[in-house]
Amino acid sequence: MSQVVLITGASKGIGLEIARRLQSDGFNVYGTSRNPEKSGIKDIRLLQMDVTNDETVTQVIQQVMLETGRIDILINNAGYDLYGTAEDTTMEELHAQMDTNFYGTVRVTQTVLAHMREQRSGKIINIGSIGGLIALPLNSAYAASKFALEGYSESLRFEMLPFNVYVSIVEPGQVKTETLNTAFPTTEQQTIFAVEDAATRARARGENVNLKPEHIANTVSKIVKKSRPKLRYAVGSQVPLVVAMRRYLPERVYESMIKQQFIDPVLAK
Ligand SMILES: NC(=O)c1ccc[n+]([C@@H]2O[C@H](COP(=O)([O-])OP(=O)(O)OC[C@H]3O[C@@H](n4cnc5c(N)ncnc54)[C@H](OP(=O)(O)O)[C@@H]3O)[C@@H](O)[C@H]2O)c1
Repeated sequence: MSQVVLITGASKGIGLEIARRLQSDGFNVYGTSRNPEKSGIKDIRLLQMDVTNDETVTQVIQQVMLETGRIDILINNAGYDLYGTAEDTTMEELHAQMDTNFYGTVRVTQTVLAHMREQRSGKIINIGSIGGLIALPLNSAYAASKFALEGYSESLRFEMLPFNVYVSIVEPGQVKTETLNTAFPTTEQQTIFAVEDAATRARARGENVNLKPEHIANTVSKIVKKSRPKLRYAVGSQVPLVVAMRRYLPERVYESMIKQQFIDPVLAK
């Protein structure tokens, strides 16, 4: 019997690519989307779930359990990237970002933990980000959500080890997906930064990145086949480089590099 995979946010981008890869690897894949019909995806079974909504999360888990009796692998991928200065980000926008990227992951995970613990087996793979390892300016809400995911994943991993359930976090650098086009600036823009310019620059950087959803799918495909996967998997050469720069460069040098690249060009005239 093939292993059952549930992946959130499988209607496009990284999630869709992972779903397709695992399905072709022979797994029984269930994906989720807030609006499966609108997605136009026919080759992956998409169930309606909004990770910010308890009811839809419970319903989907119940349906998968009813149909298959188990969930072997949970992949928490649903998320988006909020651009804008910390000052301009409203509490509502911050809550919404945390509710999808962080609490969304927690909400779905909480709902499968008991099943996996009782099964005495399982894998939970959280899609983190380079943004959870280093925080860039104009991205504080996203960084907060992905830093939170790092802490949550690390702590939960220890708790689940006795039950043969392995928690991992995948940390991609910037990936070429639609998210870069939809990464919207915060609504209020009163500060000195030209936030729209910053978002445009981020999208332009995204056009030049070599990392594609297939690379993340390759990593996830390897993780699910390991009997004891590790906690952290960085994907892309950008990640170890930037993390090493932050760790080993003198703080003033690192700060001035980041400021030159990300702040100076978007200071409003
Ligand atoms: N692209 C990058 O550069 C990059 C880099 C590092 C990490 N990541 C992470 O990778 C993950 C996927 O990003 P992506 O680039 O593939 O984004 P994407 O192309 O915009 O796809 C996002 C997916 O998340 C789903 N989603 C968003 N909000 C949701 C909600 N409230 N409930 C359920 N599903 C929701 C969307 O589904 P529906 O709209 O159909 O509901 C969609 O399938 C995110 O966690 C992101 O932070 C991305």
